[in-house]
Amino acid sequence: MAGMIPRSFVNDLLARTDIIDLIDARVPLRKNGANFVACCPFHSEKSPSFSVNPKQQFFYCFGCGKGGNAITFLIEFERLNFPEAVEQLANIQGLNIPYENNSRPRADAKEDHQTLYQLLKDAAKYYINQLQHHPQALAYLHQRGLDDKVISRYQIGFAPKGWDNLLKHCHQHTAALAKAGMTTKKDNGNDYDRFRERIMFPIRDRQGRMIGFGGRALDDNPPKYLNSPETSIFHKGNELFGLYEALQANRSFEYVVVVEGYMDVIALAQYGITECVATLGTATSQQHLQKLYRHCDTIVFCYDGDAAGKKAAWRALGSLLPILEDGRKAKFIFLPEKEDPDSIVRKLGKEGFQQHIHDAVPFSEFFFQELKAQCSDLHSMDGRSQLANLALPLINKLPKGIFQQMLLDKLSAFTRLDPQTLTHLTQQKPPPPSPSASSKPVITSKTRLTPGQIAIALLLQNPTLAVDIGNLDFLSQMKDPFCKIFHQLVDRIQEHDAITIGTILELWRESEWEPILAELAAWHTLVPKDGIIDEFNGILLKLRGQNIESQIRMLLDKAAIEPLTEEEKQQLQQLITMKKTKVI
Ligand code: UTP
Ligand code: MN
Repeated sequence: MAGMIPRSFVNDLLARTDIIDLIDARVPLRKNGANFVACCPFHSEKSPSFSVNPKQQFFYCFGCGKGGNAITFLIEFERLNFPEAVEQLANIQGLNIPYENNSRPRADAKEDHQTLYQLLKDAAKYYINQLQHHPQALAYLHQRGLDDKVISRYQIGFAPKGWDNLLKHCHQHTAALAKAGMTTKKDNGNDYDRFRERIMFPIRDRQGRMIGFGGRALDDNPPKYLNSPETSIFHKGNELFGLYEALQANRSFEYVVVVEGYMDVIALAQYGITECVATLGTATSQQHLQKLYRHCDTIVFCYDGDAAGKKAAWRALGSLLPILEDGRKAKFIFLPEKEDPDSIVRKLGKEGFQQHIHDAVPFSEFFFQELKAQCSDLHSMDGRSQLANLALPLINKLPKGIFQQMLLDKLSAFTRLDPQTLTHLTQQKPPPPSPSASSKPVITSKTRLTPGQIAIALLLQNPTLAVDIGNLDFLSQMKDPFCKIFHQLVDRIQEHDAITIGTILELWRESEWEPILAELAAWHTLVPKDGIIDEFNGILLKLRGQNIESQIRMLLDKAAIEPLTEEEKQQLQQLITMKKTKVI
Protein backbone atom coordinates (compact mmCIF):
# COMPACT_ATOMS: atom_id res chain seq x y z
CA MET A 1 0.00 0.00 0.00
CA ALA A 2 2.63 2.47 1.11
CA GLY A 3 4.37 2.16 -2.26
CA MET A 4 1.39 3.65 -4.02
CA ILE A 5 1.94 6.99 -2.39
CA PRO A 6 5.23 8.47 -3.59
CA ARG A 7 7.86 8.63 -0.86
CA SER A 8 8.76 12.17 -1.89
CA PHE A 9 5.18 13.24 -1.29
CA VAL A 10 5.20 11.71 2.18
CA ASN A 11 8.40 13.57 3.02
CA ASP A 12 6.98 16.80 1.66
CA LEU A 13 3.82 16.29 3.68
CA LEU A 14 5.81 15.69 6.86
CA ALA A 15 7.86 18.80 6.17
CA ARG A 16 4.71 20.93 5.82
CA THR A 17 2.97 19.47 8.85
CA ASP A 18 3.58 20.82 12.32
CA ILE A 19 3.30 17.89 14.69
CA ILE A 20 2.63 20.26 17.59
CA ASP A 21 -0.55 21.64 15.98
CA LEU A 22 -1.63 18.18 14.93
CA ILE A 23 -1.26 16.64 18.37
CA ASP A 24 -2.37 19.70 20.36
CA ALA A 25 -5.72 19.69 18.54
CA ARG A 26 -6.30 16.16 19.84
CA VAL A 27 -4.32 16.03 23.07
CA PRO A 28 -3.78 19.47 24.63
CA LEU A 29 -0.06 20.02 25.09
CA ARG A 30 1.81 22.06 27.66
CA LYS A 31 5.18 23.66 26.94
CA ASN A 32 8.00 22.27 29.00
CA GLY A 33 11.44 23.61 28.08
CA ALA A 34 12.17 22.89 24.44
CA ASN A 35 9.47 20.22 24.27
CA PHE A 36 5.74 19.96 24.79
CA VAL A 37 4.23 17.44 27.18
CA ALA A 38 0.90 15.83 28.06
CA CYS A 39 -0.45 12.75 29.76
CA CYS A 40 0.00 9.97 27.23
CA PRO A 41 -3.09 9.27 25.12
CA PHE A 42 -1.92 5.70 24.54
CA HIS A 43 -1.77 4.44 28.09
CA SER A 44 -3.28 5.70 31.29
CA GLU A 45 -1.11 7.76 33.58
CA LYS A 46 -1.41 10.52 36.13
CA SER A 47 1.74 12.52 35.39
CA PRO A 48 2.84 13.36 31.84
CA SER A 49 5.47 11.19 30.18
CA PHE A 50 4.34 11.93 26.64
CA SER A 51 6.68 14.41 25.02
CA VAL A 52 6.61 16.12 21.62
CA ASN A 53 9.70 17.68 20.14
CA PRO A 54 8.87 20.54 17.73
CA LYS A 55 12.37 20.78 16.28
CA GLN A 56 12.60 17.08 15.51
CA GLN A 57 8.88 16.75 14.63
CA PHE A 58 8.63 13.66 16.71
CA PHE A 59 6.72 12.38 19.76
CA TYR A 60 7.68 9.81 22.34
CA CYS A 61 6.14 8.43 25.51
CA PHE A 62 8.67 7.52 28.18
CA GLY A 63 5.95 5.49 29.87
CA CYS A 64 4.70 3.15 27.18
CA GLY A 65 7.40 3.61 24.54
CA LYS A 66 5.11 4.70 21.71
CA GLY A 67 6.78 7.18 19.45
CA GLY A 68 7.08 8.41 15.89
CA ASN A 69 6.21 11.19 13.51
CA ALA A 70 2.92 12.92 12.64
CA ILE A 71 1.75 9.99 10.51
CA THR A 72 2.46 7.50 13.29
CA PHE A 73 0.52 9.68 15.69
CA LEU A 74 -2.55 9.69 13.44
CA ILE A 75 -2.31 5.94 12.86
CA GLU A 76 -2.18 5.29 16.60
CA PHE A 77 -4.57 7.96 17.79
CA GLU A 78 -7.25 7.79 15.15
CA ARG A 79 -6.76 4.09 14.45
CA LEU A 80 -6.05 4.68 10.78
CA ASN A 81 -3.92 2.69 8.41
CA PHE A 82 -0.98 4.30 6.66
CA PRO A 83 -2.76 5.50 3.49
CA GLU A 84 -5.67 6.85 5.55
CA ALA A 85 -3.31 8.77 7.82
CA VAL A 86 -1.49 10.24 4.81
CA GLU A 87 -4.85 11.16 3.29
CA GLN A 88 -5.92 12.92 6.46
CA LEU A 89 -2.68 14.89 6.67
CA ALA A 90 -2.94 15.76 2.98
CA ASN A 91 -6.50 17.01 3.55
CA ILE A 92 -5.34 19.18 6.43
CA GLN A 93 -2.65 20.67 4.18
CA GLY A 94 -5.09 21.02 1.27
CA LEU A 95 -2.95 18.77 -0.91
CA ASN A 96 -3.98 16.06 -3.33
CA ILE A 97 -2.00 12.86 -3.15
CA PRO A 98 -0.25 12.24 -6.48
CA TYR A 99 -0.94 8.49 -6.42
CA GLU A 100 1.43 6.53 -8.59
CA ASN A 101 -0.10 5.27 -11.85
CA ASN A 102 -1.08 1.81 -10.76
CA SER A 103 -2.95 3.08 -7.78
CA ARG A 104 -6.12 4.59 -9.20
CA PRO A 105 -8.22 2.05 -7.28
CA ARG A 106 -7.24 3.57 -3.96
CA ALA A 107 -8.19 7.05 -5.01
CA ASP A 108 -11.44 5.59 -6.28
CA ALA A 109 -11.96 3.81 -2.99
CA LYS A 110 -11.67 7.09 -1.17
CA GLU A 111 -14.25 8.72 -3.43
CA ASP A 112 -16.36 5.64 -2.96
CA HIS A 113 -16.31 5.99 0.81
CA GLN A 114 -17.26 9.65 0.59
CA THR A 115 -20.23 8.69 -1.61
CA LEU A 116 -21.36 6.06 0.89
CA TYR A 117 -21.14 8.42 3.88
CA GLN A 118 -23.15 11.00 1.98
CA LEU A 119 -25.70 8.48 0.82
CA LEU A 120 -26.28 7.13 4.33
CA LYS A 121 -26.59 10.67 5.61
CA ASP A 122 -29.31 11.29 3.02
CA ALA A 123 -31.00 8.02 3.94
CA ALA A 124 -31.00 8.96 7.65
CA LYS A 125 -32.55 12.32 6.77
CA TYR A 126 -35.18 10.57 4.70
CA TYR A 127 -36.04 8.20 7.57
CA ILE A 128 -36.24 11.09 10.08
CA ASN A 129 -38.66 12.81 7.76
CA GLN A 130 -40.73 9.67 7.29
CA LEU A 131 -41.07 9.27 11.06
CA GLN A 132 -42.98 12.54 11.17
CA HIS A 133 -45.33 11.23 8.47
CA HIS A 134 -46.04 7.90 10.16
CA PRO A 135 -47.90 8.55 13.42
CA GLN A 136 -47.99 4.86 14.34
CA ALA A 137 -44.16 4.74 14.30
CA LEU A 138 -43.84 7.88 16.38
CA ALA A 139 -46.50 6.53 18.73
CA TYR A 140 -44.46 3.34 19.14
CA LEU A 141 -41.43 5.36 20.26
CA HIS A 142 -43.48 7.48 22.62
CA GLN A 143 -45.15 4.38 24.01
CA ARG A 144 -41.67 3.04 24.71
CA GLY A 145 -41.05 6.16 26.71
CA LEU A 146 -38.78 8.11 24.36
CA ASP A 147 -39.18 11.86 24.28
CA ASP A 148 -38.72 14.01 21.19
CA LYS A 149 -35.44 15.39 22.44
CA VAL A 150 -33.77 12.00 22.61
CA ILE A 151 -35.39 10.92 19.34
CA SER A 152 -33.77 13.87 17.65
CA ARG A 153 -30.44 13.49 19.53
CA TYR A 154 -30.09 9.93 18.20
CA GLN A 155 -31.61 10.91 14.84
CA ILE A 156 -34.10 8.08 15.04
CA GLY A 157 -36.23 7.60 11.93
CA PHE A 158 -38.66 5.25 10.27
CA ALA A 159 -38.39 3.14 7.12
CA PRO A 160 -41.93 2.86 5.76
CA LYS A 161 -43.59 -0.28 4.41
CA GLY A 162 -42.76 -1.06 0.77
CA TRP A 163 -39.96 -2.58 -1.28
CA ASP A 164 -38.45 0.44 -2.95
CA ASN A 165 -39.03 3.60 -0.92
CA LEU A 166 -35.35 4.26 -0.37
CA LEU A 167 -34.47 3.07 -3.87
CA LYS A 168 -36.85 5.65 -5.30
CA HIS A 169 -35.63 8.33 -2.95
CA CYS A 170 -32.00 7.73 -4.00
CA HIS A 171 -32.79 6.62 -7.54
CA GLN A 172 -29.50 7.80 -9.02
CA HIS A 173 -27.41 5.75 -6.62
CA THR A 174 -28.64 2.17 -6.94
CA ALA A 175 -25.15 0.66 -7.02
CA ALA A 176 -23.96 2.73 -4.07
CA LEU A 177 -27.05 1.78 -2.04
CA ALA A 178 -26.13 -1.87 -2.50
CA LYS A 179 -22.52 -1.17 -1.49
CA ALA A 180 -23.77 0.63 1.61
CA GLY A 181 -25.84 -2.44 2.55
CA MET A 182 -29.13 -0.59 2.21
CA THR A 183 -30.58 -2.93 -0.43
CA THR A 184 -30.54 -6.67 -1.09
CA LYS A 185 -31.17 -8.64 -4.25
CA LYS A 186 -34.28 -10.55 -5.23
CA ASP A 187 -33.91 -13.91 -6.98
CA ASN A 188 -34.52 -12.16 -10.29
CA GLY A 189 -31.50 -9.97 -9.64
CA ASN A 190 -33.42 -6.79 -8.84
CA ASP A 191 -32.59 -4.75 -5.76
CA TYR A 192 -35.05 -4.02 -2.99
CA ASP A 193 -34.91 -2.03 0.26
CA ARG A 194 -33.37 -4.00 3.12
CA PHE A 195 -35.17 -2.03 5.82
CA ARG A 196 -38.96 -2.00 5.58
CA GLU A 197 -41.46 -0.94 8.20
CA ARG A 198 -38.80 -0.53 10.86
CA ILE A 199 -37.73 2.06 13.38
CA MET A 200 -34.30 3.15 12.17
CA PHE A 201 -31.36 3.76 14.51
CA PRO A 202 -28.49 5.38 12.61
CA ILE A 203 -25.00 4.25 13.57
CA ARG A 204 -22.28 6.87 13.39
CA ASP A 205 -18.53 6.46 13.64
CA ARG A 206 -16.44 8.41 16.11
CA GLN A 207 -16.27 11.35 13.74
CA GLY A 208 -20.04 11.41 13.33
CA ARG A 209 -20.11 9.95 9.82
CA MET A 210 -23.15 7.82 9.10
CA ILE A 211 -21.95 4.25 8.54
CA GLY A 212 -24.93 1.93 9.04
CA PHE A 213 -28.31 1.34 10.64
CA GLY A 214 -30.08 -0.87 13.08
CA GLY A 215 -33.75 -1.35 12.31
CA ARG A 216 -36.36 -2.52 14.83
CA ALA A 217 -39.65 -4.13 13.85
CA LEU A 218 -42.73 -2.41 15.22
CA ASP A 219 -44.00 -5.70 16.51
CA ASP A 220 -41.73 -8.34 18.03
CA ASN A 221 -41.83 -10.59 14.98
CA PRO A 222 -38.40 -11.92 14.16
CA PRO A 223 -36.03 -10.66 13.25
CA LYS A 224 -36.74 -8.09 15.93
CA TYR A 225 -33.62 -6.19 14.92
CA LEU A 226 -32.03 -6.05 11.50
CA ASN A 227 -28.59 -4.47 11.19
CA SER A 228 -26.65 -3.19 8.19
CA PRO A 229 -24.25 -5.86 6.94
CA GLU A 230 -20.49 -5.33 7.03
CA THR A 231 -19.51 -2.89 4.30
CA SER A 232 -16.34 -1.08 3.33
CA ILE A 233 -17.23 1.65 5.85
CA PHE A 234 -19.05 -0.40 8.50
CA HIS A 235 -17.06 -2.85 10.64
CA LYS A 236 -19.07 -4.20 13.53
CA GLY A 237 -16.01 -5.46 15.36
CA ASN A 238 -14.72 -1.93 15.58
CA GLU A 239 -17.74 0.33 15.90
CA LEU A 240 -19.94 1.05 18.89
CA PHE A 241 -23.45 2.41 18.84
CA GLY A 242 -23.67 5.62 20.86
CA LEU A 243 -19.95 6.44 21.08
CA TYR A 244 -20.28 9.52 18.90
CA GLU A 245 -23.29 10.76 20.88
CA ALA A 246 -21.53 9.99 24.18
CA LEU A 247 -18.52 12.03 23.06
CA GLN A 248 -20.79 14.88 22.01
CA ALA A 249 -22.42 14.94 25.43
CA ASN A 250 -19.26 14.58 27.51
CA ARG A 251 -15.92 16.27 27.10
CA SER A 252 -14.48 13.50 29.16
CA PHE A 253 -15.82 10.72 31.28
CA GLU A 254 -14.74 8.67 34.23
CA TYR A 255 -16.29 5.47 32.96
CA VAL A 256 -18.24 4.16 30.02
CA VAL A 257 -21.11 1.69 30.33
CA VAL A 258 -21.33 -1.06 27.72
CA VAL A 259 -24.88 -2.34 27.29
CA GLU A 260 -26.43 -4.79 24.85
CA GLY A 261 -29.12 -2.87 23.02
CA TYR A 262 -29.78 0.29 21.06
CA MET A 263 -32.82 1.01 23.20
CA ASP A 264 -30.73 0.65 26.35
CA VAL A 265 -28.25 3.30 25.23
CA ILE A 266 -31.04 5.66 24.28
CA ALA A 267 -33.10 5.17 27.44
CA LEU A 268 -30.06 5.72 29.65
CA ALA A 269 -29.15 8.86 27.70
CA GLN A 270 -32.68 10.15 28.13
CA TYR A 271 -32.24 9.81 31.89
CA GLY A 272 -28.96 11.69 31.78
CA ILE A 273 -26.58 8.72 31.77
CA THR A 274 -24.92 9.71 28.54
CA GLU A 275 -21.67 7.74 28.76
CA CYS A 276 -23.14 4.56 27.28
CA VAL A 277 -22.46 2.48 24.20
CA ALA A 278 -23.70 -0.79 22.74
CA THR A 279 -22.11 -3.31 20.43
CA LEU A 280 -23.94 -3.97 17.20
CA GLY A 281 -25.44 -7.37 17.84
CA THR A 282 -21.92 -8.82 18.15
CA ALA A 283 -19.67 -9.80 21.04
CA THR A 284 -17.41 -7.15 22.54
CA SER A 285 -14.12 -7.28 20.70
CA GLN A 286 -10.68 -6.22 21.82
CA GLN A 287 -10.81 -3.34 19.32
CA HIS A 288 -14.02 -2.13 20.95
CA LEU A 289 -12.34 -2.17 24.33
CA GLN A 290 -9.17 -0.46 23.15
CA LYS A 291 -11.28 2.23 21.60
CA LEU A 292 -13.16 2.79 24.84
CA TYR A 293 -10.04 2.84 27.02
CA ARG A 294 -8.89 5.74 24.85
CA HIS A 295 -11.56 7.82 26.47
CA CYS A 296 -11.64 6.63 30.08
CA ASP A 297 -10.03 4.27 32.57
CA THR A 298 -13.09 2.28 33.56
CA ILE A 299 -15.42 0.14 31.50
CA VAL A 300 -18.63 -0.97 33.20
CA PHE A 301 -20.26 -3.92 31.45
CA CYS A 302 -23.95 -4.33 31.95
CA TYR A 303 -25.52 -7.73 31.35
CA ASP A 304 -28.57 -9.72 32.26
CA GLY A 305 -28.23 -11.67 35.47
CA ASP A 306 -29.11 -14.95 33.69
CA ALA A 307 -26.77 -17.60 32.35
CA ALA A 308 -26.55 -15.94 28.92
CA GLY A 309 -25.57 -12.64 30.55
CA LYS A 310 -22.84 -14.35 32.61
CA LYS A 311 -21.56 -16.04 29.50
CA ALA A 312 -21.41 -12.75 27.61
CA ALA A 313 -19.62 -11.15 30.55
CA TRP A 314 -17.08 -13.98 30.67
CA ARG A 315 -16.40 -13.53 26.96
CA ALA A 316 -15.85 -9.82 27.48
CA LEU A 317 -13.46 -10.68 30.31
CA GLY A 318 -11.50 -12.88 27.91
CA SER A 319 -11.08 -9.99 25.47
CA LEU A 320 -10.07 -7.72 28.33
CA LEU A 321 -7.24 -9.83 29.75
CA PRO A 322 -4.44 -8.92 27.34
CA ILE A 323 -5.18 -5.21 27.44
CA LEU A 324 -5.93 -4.68 31.11
CA GLU A 325 -2.86 -2.61 31.84
CA ASP A 326 -2.33 -1.09 35.26
CA GLY A 327 -4.67 1.84 35.67
CA ARG A 328 -7.39 0.38 33.46
CA LYS A 329 -10.41 -0.95 35.30
CA ALA A 330 -13.40 -3.11 34.43
CA LYS A 331 -16.58 -3.78 36.40
CA PHE A 332 -19.69 -5.85 35.79
CA ILE A 333 -23.34 -5.11 36.46
CA PHE A 334 -25.69 -8.10 36.49
CA LEU A 335 -29.29 -7.00 36.28
CA PRO A 336 -32.19 -8.87 37.83
CA GLU A 337 -33.84 -11.45 35.60
CA LYS A 338 -36.12 -10.14 32.83
CA GLU A 339 -34.75 -6.61 33.15
CA ASP A 340 -32.50 -4.65 30.87
CA PRO A 341 -30.97 -1.18 31.37
CA ASP A 342 -33.90 0.35 29.52
CA SER A 343 -36.48 -1.13 31.89
CA ILE A 344 -34.34 -0.58 35.00
CA VAL A 345 -33.67 3.08 34.41
CA ARG A 346 -37.34 3.71 33.74
CA LYS A 347 -38.22 1.98 37.02
CA LEU A 348 -35.44 3.27 39.24
CA GLY A 349 -34.49 6.55 37.58
CA LYS A 350 -31.02 7.98 37.11
CA GLU A 351 -29.90 7.57 40.71
CA GLY A 352 -31.18 4.01 40.81
CA PHE A 353 -29.14 3.05 37.79
CA GLN A 354 -26.11 4.92 39.07
CA GLN A 355 -26.38 2.85 42.22
CA HIS A 356 -26.01 -0.24 40.01
CA ILE A 357 -22.91 1.30 38.45
CA HIS A 358 -21.58 2.06 41.90
CA ASP A 359 -22.25 -1.48 43.13
CA ALA A 360 -20.84 -3.15 40.01
CA VAL A 361 -18.73 -6.25 40.63
CA PRO A 362 -15.00 -5.57 40.18
CA PHE A 363 -13.10 -7.56 37.59
CA SER A 364 -11.15 -9.60 40.13
CA GLU A 365 -14.25 -10.57 42.05
CA PHE A 366 -16.11 -11.74 38.95
CA PHE A 367 -13.00 -13.52 37.77
CA PHE A 368 -12.61 -15.66 40.88
CA GLN A 369 -16.32 -16.09 41.39
CA GLU A 370 -16.69 -17.71 37.97
CA LEU A 371 -13.57 -19.85 38.28
CA LYS A 372 -14.45 -21.03 41.76
CA ALA A 373 -17.86 -22.09 40.51
CA GLN A 374 -16.05 -24.45 38.13
CA CYS A 375 -14.01 -26.08 40.89
CA SER A 376 -14.98 -28.65 43.43
CA ASP A 377 -14.62 -27.86 47.11
CA LEU A 378 -11.79 -25.39 47.77
CA HIS A 379 -11.22 -27.03 51.15
CA SER A 380 -9.79 -29.97 49.29
CA MET A 381 -6.38 -30.05 47.70
CA ASP A 382 -7.95 -31.15 44.43
CA GLY A 383 -10.24 -28.14 44.35
CA ARG A 384 -7.41 -25.76 45.07
CA SER A 385 -5.12 -27.19 42.45
CA GLN A 386 -8.02 -27.06 39.99
CA LEU A 387 -8.44 -23.36 40.72
CA ALA A 388 -4.74 -22.68 40.26
CA ASN A 389 -4.76 -24.54 36.97
CA LEU A 390 -7.74 -22.61 35.67
CA ALA A 391 -6.59 -19.22 36.88
CA LEU A 392 -2.90 -19.24 36.05
CA PRO A 393 -3.14 -19.37 32.24
CA LEU A 394 -5.62 -16.50 32.36
CA ILE A 395 -3.63 -14.38 34.79
CA ASN A 396 -0.70 -15.04 32.55
CA LYS A 397 -2.46 -13.24 29.72
CA LEU A 398 -2.58 -9.99 31.68
CA PRO A 399 0.10 -7.42 30.99
CA LYS A 400 2.89 -7.68 33.55
CA GLY A 401 2.24 -5.24 36.34
CA ILE A 402 0.76 -4.54 39.71
CA PHE A 403 -2.72 -5.74 38.82
CA GLN A 404 -1.40 -9.09 37.66
CA GLN A 405 0.54 -9.40 40.90
CA MET A 406 -2.57 -8.56 42.92
CA LEU A 407 -4.54 -11.31 41.22
CA LEU A 408 -1.70 -13.73 41.94
CA ASP A 409 -1.81 -12.69 45.59
CA LYS A 410 -5.53 -13.35 45.66
CA LEU A 411 -5.02 -16.71 44.00
CA SER A 412 -2.40 -17.51 46.56
CA ALA A 413 -4.86 -16.75 49.36
CA PHE A 414 -7.46 -19.06 47.82
CA THR A 415 -5.10 -21.90 46.96
CA ARG A 416 -2.74 -21.53 49.94
CA LEU A 417 0.09 -21.67 47.47
CA ASP A 418 3.03 -19.44 48.24
CA PRO A 419 2.83 -16.26 46.05
CA GLN A 420 6.41 -16.74 44.94
CA THR A 421 5.64 -20.23 43.67
CA LEU A 422 2.71 -18.86 41.72
CA THR A 423 4.77 -16.03 40.25
CA HIS A 424 7.38 -18.59 39.32
CA LEU A 425 4.72 -20.75 37.66
CA THR A 426 3.39 -17.85 35.57
CA GLN A 427 6.88 -16.92 34.51
CA GLN A 428 7.63 -20.44 33.42
CA LYS A 429 4.95 -20.30 30.79
CA PRO A 430 6.44 -18.93 27.61
CA PRO A 431 4.99 -15.61 26.55
CA PRO A 432 2.74 -15.74 23.47
CA PRO A 433 5.02 -16.24 20.49
CA SER A 434 5.76 -13.04 18.68
CA PRO A 435 6.97 -13.29 15.09
CA SER A 436 10.74 -13.46 14.83
CA ALA A 437 10.99 -13.12 18.59
CA SER A 438 14.45 -14.58 18.71
CA SER A 439 16.01 -12.32 16.11
CA LYS A 440 14.34 -9.21 17.44
CA PRO A 441 16.79 -6.49 18.38
CA VAL A 442 16.10 -5.11 21.82
CA ILE A 443 17.66 -2.52 24.03
CA THR A 444 18.53 -4.70 26.97
CA SER A 445 20.01 -2.31 29.45
CA LYS A 446 17.76 0.50 30.62
CA THR A 447 20.59 2.56 31.99
CA ARG A 448 23.61 2.00 29.76
CA LEU A 449 23.62 1.91 26.00
CA THR A 450 26.12 0.04 23.86
CA PRO A 451 28.37 2.15 21.59
CA GLY A 452 26.24 1.19 18.58
CA GLN A 453 23.12 2.36 20.38
CA ILE A 454 24.73 5.61 21.49
CA ALA A 455 25.88 6.26 17.92
CA ILE A 456 22.29 5.87 16.72
CA ALA A 457 20.86 8.05 19.48
CA LEU A 458 23.36 10.85 18.81
CA LEU A 459 22.86 10.68 15.07
CA LEU A 460 19.06 10.69 15.29
CA GLN A 461 19.12 13.63 17.63
CA ASN A 462 21.68 15.45 15.48
CA PRO A 463 21.19 14.28 11.90
CA THR A 464 23.70 16.81 10.53
CA LEU A 465 26.44 14.63 12.06
CA ALA A 466 26.02 12.44 8.97
CA VAL A 467 27.36 15.17 6.70
CA ASP A 468 31.13 14.92 7.33
CA ILE A 469 31.28 11.50 8.79
CA GLY A 470 34.05 9.96 6.67
CA ASN A 471 34.31 6.37 5.54
CA LEU A 472 32.25 3.91 7.53
CA ASP A 473 32.82 0.78 5.45
CA PHE A 474 34.19 -1.01 8.50
CA LEU A 475 30.68 -1.04 9.96
CA SER A 476 29.50 -3.60 7.43
CA GLN A 477 31.95 -6.13 8.96
CA MET A 478 30.46 -5.75 12.40
CA LYS A 479 28.03 -8.29 13.79
CA ASP A 480 26.14 -5.95 16.14
CA PRO A 481 22.77 -5.26 14.44
CA PHE A 482 22.80 -1.77 15.93
CA CYS A 483 26.01 -1.01 14.01
CA LYS A 484 24.45 -2.19 10.77
CA ILE A 485 21.41 0.00 11.34
CA PHE A 486 23.63 2.92 12.26
CA HIS A 487 25.39 2.48 8.92
CA GLN A 488 22.07 2.43 7.08
CA LEU A 489 20.88 5.48 8.96
CA VAL A 490 23.91 7.45 7.86
CA ASP A 491 23.34 6.40 4.24
CA ARG A 492 19.65 7.23 4.33
CA ILE A 493 20.11 10.60 5.96
CA GLN A 494 22.73 11.47 3.33
CA GLU A 495 20.53 10.25 0.46
CA HIS A 496 17.25 11.71 1.57
CA ASP A 497 18.29 14.98 3.08
CA ALA A 498 16.22 13.83 6.01
CA ILE A 499 16.57 16.52 8.58
CA THR A 500 14.18 15.69 11.40
CA ILE A 501 13.70 12.54 13.42
CA GLY A 502 10.15 12.53 12.08
CA THR A 503 11.29 12.20 8.47
CA ILE A 504 14.00 9.67 9.33
CA LEU A 505 11.61 7.40 11.20
CA GLU A 506 9.31 7.39 8.19
CA LEU A 507 11.97 5.34 6.35
CA TRP A 508 11.64 2.55 8.92
CA ARG A 509 7.86 2.47 9.11
CA GLU A 510 6.53 -0.97 9.99
CA SER A 511 9.96 -2.44 10.47
CA GLU A 512 10.86 -3.97 13.83
CA TRP A 513 13.37 -1.14 14.16
CA GLU A 514 10.74 1.58 14.20
CA PRO A 515 10.01 1.48 17.95
CA ILE A 516 13.68 0.99 18.80
CA LEU A 517 14.74 3.97 16.76
CA ALA A 518 11.98 6.02 18.38
CA GLU A 519 13.23 4.99 21.80
CA LEU A 520 16.82 5.91 20.96
CA ALA A 521 15.71 9.19 19.39
CA ALA A 522 14.17 10.12 22.73
CA TRP A 523 17.03 8.80 24.86
CA HIS A 524 18.62 11.31 27.21
CA THR A 525 22.24 10.93 26.23
CA LEU A 526 23.26 13.58 28.78
CA VAL A 527 25.80 14.99 26.34
CA PRO A 528 26.05 18.80 26.52
CA LYS A 529 25.37 20.58 23.22
CA ASP A 530 28.95 21.70 22.62
CA GLY A 531 30.27 18.23 23.36
CA ILE A 532 28.16 16.33 20.84
CA ILE A 533 30.67 16.24 17.98
CA ASP A 534 33.49 15.07 20.26
CA GLU A 535 31.29 12.47 21.88
CA PHE A 536 30.16 11.22 18.48
CA ASN A 537 33.72 11.00 17.15
CA GLY A 538 34.72 9.22 20.34
CA ILE A 539 32.01 6.64 19.80
CA LEU A 540 33.05 6.11 16.19
CA LEU A 541 36.60 5.54 17.39
CA LYS A 542 35.33 3.04 19.91
CA LEU A 543 33.40 1.20 17.21
CA ARG A 544 36.47 1.06 15.01
CA GLY A 545 38.39 -0.28 18.00
CA GLN A 546 35.75 -2.94 18.61
CA ASN A 547 35.91 -3.93 14.97
CA ILE A 548 39.68 -4.32 15.07
CA GLU A 549 39.47 -6.39 18.23
CA SER A 550 36.90 -8.72 16.78
CA GLN A 551 38.95 -9.19 13.60
CA ILE A 552 42.05 -9.96 15.63
CA ARG A 553 40.03 -12.45 17.65
CA MET A 554 38.73 -14.07 14.48
CA LEU A 555 42.22 -14.52 13.04
CA LEU A 556 43.59 -15.84 16.34
CA ASP A 557 40.69 -18.31 16.58
CA LYS A 558 41.47 -19.46 13.09
CA ALA A 559 45.20 -19.76 13.88
CA ALA A 560 44.34 -22.10 16.73
CA ILE A 561 42.86 -24.54 14.24
CA GLU A 562 44.96 -24.17 11.09
CA PRO A 563 48.01 -22.21 9.98
CA LEU A 564 47.27 -18.71 8.69
CA THR A 565 48.15 -17.78 5.12
CA GLU A 566 50.90 -15.23 4.55
CA GLU A 567 48.31 -12.64 3.76
CA GLU A 568 46.38 -13.33 6.93
CA LYS A 569 49.56 -13.15 9.00
CA GLN A 570 50.31 -9.74 7.58
CA GLN A 571 46.78 -8.62 8.22
CA LEU A 572 46.97 -9.76 11.83
CA GLN A 573 50.23 -7.89 12.31
CA GLN A 574 48.70 -4.74 10.91
CA LEU A 575 45.67 -5.05 13.13
CA ILE A 576 47.75 -5.55 16.23
CA THR A 577 49.85 -2.48 15.40
CA MET A 578 46.72 -0.45 14.84
CA LYS A 579 45.36 -1.56 18.17
CA LYS A 580 48.58 -0.71 19.98
CA THR A 581 49.15 2.69 18.39
CA LYS A 582 45.45 3.51 18.35
CA VAL A 583 45.88 4.85 14.81
CA ILE A 584 42.71 3.50 13.29
P1 UTP B 1 -32.46 -7.39 22.77
O1 UTP B 1 -33.33 -8.45 22.22
O2 UTP B 1 -32.01 -7.47 24.19
O3 UTP B 1 -33.16 -6.06 22.43
O4 UTP B 1 -31.18 -7.28 21.86
P2 UTP B 1 -33.37 -4.72 23.22
O5 UTP B 1 -32.24 -3.80 23.00
O6 UTP B 1 -33.83 -4.95 24.62
O7 UTP B 1 -34.54 -4.16 22.34
P3 UTP B 1 -36.00 -3.89 22.69
O8 UTP B 1 -35.98 -3.27 24.04
O9 UTP B 1 -36.75 -5.18 22.66
O10 UTP B 1 -36.40 -2.98 21.60
C1 UTP B 1 -30.08 -6.52 22.17
C2 UTP B 1 -29.33 -6.14 20.93
O11 UTP B 1 -29.00 -7.30 20.18
C3 UTP B 1 -29.10 -7.07 18.81
C4 UTP B 1 -29.45 -5.60 18.66
O12 UTP B 1 -28.25 -4.86 18.52
C5 UTP B 1 -30.13 -5.29 19.97
O13 UTP B 1 -30.11 -3.92 20.29
N1 UTP B 1 -30.13 -7.90 18.17
C6 UTP B 1 -31.20 -8.39 18.87
C7 UTP B 1 -30.03 -8.15 16.84
O14 UTP B 1 -29.09 -7.73 16.19
N2 UTP B 1 -31.03 -8.91 16.23
C8 UTP B 1 -32.11 -9.36 16.91
O15 UTP B 1 -32.97 -9.99 16.29
C9 UTP B 1 -32.18 -9.11 18.25
MN1 MN C 1 -35.12 -3.95 25.83
